[in-house]
Amino acid sequence: MNFNIALIKGDGVGPEIISGAVKVLNVVAEKYGHNFIFNEYLAGGAAIDATGVPLPQETIDGCKASDSVLFGAIGGPKWDSMPGHLRPEKALLGLRTELGLFTNLRPAKIYPALAGASTLRPDIIAKGFDMVIVRELTGGIYFGERGRRDGKYGPEAYDTECYSVMEVERIARVAFETAMKRNKKVTSVDKANVLESSRLWRETVHRIAEEYPEVEVVDMYVDNAAMQLVREPSAFDVVVTSNMFGDILSDEASQITGSIGLLASSSLGSSKCGFYEPIHGSAPDIAGKNIVNPIATILSAAMMLRYSFDLEEEADCIEAAVNKAIEDGLRTADIIGDSEGTPLTCTEMTDAIIARL
Ligand code: IPM
Ligand code: MN
Repeated sequence: MNFNIALIKGDGVGPEIISGAVKVLNVVAEKYGHNFIFNEYLAGGAAIDATGVPLPQETIDGCKASDSVLFGAIGGPKWDSMPGHLRPEKALLGLRTELGLFTNLRPAKIYPALAGASTLRPDIIAKGFDMVIVRELTGGIYFGERGRRDGKYGPEAYDTECYSVMEVERIARVAFETAMKRNKKVTSVDKANVLESSRLWRETVHRIAEEYPEVEVVDMYVDNAAMQLVREPSAFDVVVTSNMFGDILSDEASQITGSIGLLASSSLGSSKCGFYEPIHGSAPDIAGKNIVNPIATILSAAMMLRYSFDLEEEADCIEAAVNKAIEDGLRTADIIGDSEGTPLTCTEMTDAIIARL
């Protein structure tokens, strides 16, 4: 079958990780007789340099016309002093809105062979850790009204957290559907003791929960959730939360697994066209050195095959190859232990995964 994939390499380590994932996809295409057609588009700092804006219309149109988008990472010190509407990050936020990607799935699990890379004590990790964060992605404080004005104490700035019933309903449904395929437990994270938007979130989640009587629902304030996640990570299965809380908790969850370089994500809307990216950023400090871990992006490509293309077996094949590489002791710099020798480069890790496909 033919699949059109929009490729956005972006900035920093973006080009390196995307080239790893493309290599893997090309091997999978050959093995299973598919045709992945890659079309490259600019976004982020790379787009600012080339066109003056972080998200050219051509990129929006190209992504919309594709079967899905594979995204590297954007941003870097070079563009940090740009005004808000011209920052590289604006491209990512713009694409999420333009493509209607209200769901962000961020799975995090421990690979037994990597238990030592976790920042948590072995006895805590031994209890297991396998969760998925269902992050609302097109609402909340990321997209609420913001600005500068003269306030009571002089100049001030504000951002607004706003959620509609509809936005909470649809993300809650995704969480419950996800839970039905897993362990039937949803932890809904909010700050309902303070925020009105969280109180609406909580009542809406409970209303949708009635449609899923088999699923256990636990409400948790975000501060407590941040604590429980490192106290007893095995207690979590599906977490559903707002845009900003999900952003923060997913970075925290990554450290439990050992490295943010392992975590993939998929962003979905109401169509099959998804958006797949590692949860990590452009890591300018290690860019261009061929030392970045390609696994998060390779696993994102696997998610693309599963969720957008319905290529379950092909996705399993990639995930199994990654598992095998980890079990075989192959380590990039972010996951290597003191006594584990020299780390593999990004291309070496990619090739090692390909050898195990
Ligand atoms: C992420 C990133 C983005 C976010 C930034 C780059 C806008 O941190 O995907 O987690 O906050 O959503
Ligand atoms: Mn983030």
